[in-house]
Amino acid sequence: MENLNGKTAVITGGASGIGLAMAHRFGAAGMNLVIGDIEVPAMESAVTELTASGYQVVSLQVDVRDIEQQRELERIAIEAFGNIHVLCNNAGVGAGGPVADPDNLEVWRWTIDIDLWGVIYGCKVFLPAMIAHGEPCHVVNTASMAGHGSAPFMGAYSVAKYGVVALSETLTKEMQIAGNDVGVSVLCPAFVATGIAKSDRNMPDDLRSEPASTPVSGGMQSMIESLVANGIATNVVADAVHDAVIENKFWILTHDETKPGVLERAQQIVDGLNPGLGGFL
Ligand SMILES: NC(=O)c1ccc[n+]([C@@H]2O[C@H](COP(=O)([O-])OP(=O)(O)OC[C@H]3O[C@@H](n4cnc5c(N)ncnc54)[C@H](O)[C@@H]3O)[C@@H](O)[C@H]2O)c1
Repeated sequence: MENLNGKTAVITGGASGIGLAMAHRFGAAGMNLVIGDIEVPAMESAVTELTASGYQVVSLQVDVRDIEQQRELERIAIEAFGNIHVLCNNAGVGAGGPVADPDNLEVWRWTIDIDLWGVIYGCKVFLPAMIAHGEPCHVVNTASMAGHGSAPFMGAYSVAKYGVVALSETLTKEMQIAGNDVGVSVLCPAFVATGIAKSDRNMPDDLRSEPASTPVSGGMQSMIESLVANGIATNVVADAVHDAVIENKFWILTHDETKPGVLERAQQIVDGLNPGLGGFL
């Protein structure tokens, strides 16, 4: 997309963190903003902040696990602004716990329902009308470097994020085959200073009793909190997303220091070597 001015962006998980930074960046580029998020107080303050910056904003409480709620988000977006041009399937949580633990099943399901099914639903709900109106469009799916390397105790998160990478690669090929003017990017950051380590704030109460209701389990929780707190700033990520949309770049890797790990893993695969304890953690 060459010109974003006057176009419309839908951002799930837009009430805080990376999604809110994207909203600010796209607002600064002259876009109308549609924010869908599950956390109402954060969304209200985000809308106040974005409106005060002079941007046109509508918002809706949405649980991305529910396809009907995503359809309602599309409906209010079109009602407010007409055609949708940029879709950011960004809402996500970090949770999981060990693969071999039989007692964290519902936390795994919650994580994958949001981080993978939320993105699948977003594509299925929004893409048909974006394709049909024929104006240049772009989809940004938020994955992670956890979609390129599997850290211990973060299995549910990695399963979902690998899935988002695969979904996005498939989508861009299908758009090319169909000749649609729909660009696709997959956002793969390492640590960014956001509220992701406190994802359990949005967890349904009945899951809190499961042993891995924190983003990861055991002593790794404090390590993850520290890595996230010392992560890069959200506006750096939002700038990279904005540029990828303008330049139609698929891969958005915001942390150069993680790139050798991608090559190392690929080399291990073709060399037939077993995974070690390296990787992005
Ligand atoms: N922060 C990092 O280090 C990092 C690294 C890689 C990828 N990511 C990804 O970035 C995305 C944004 O996360 P963030 O880091 O900004 O965290 P964040 O917690 O600050 O923001 C996530 C947003 O998603 C919303 N959300 C959670 N569950 C939802 C649901 N069911 N439906 C709708 N909205 C929901 C939250 O309310 C919140 O506003 C996520 O997909 C995350 O996996 C983050």
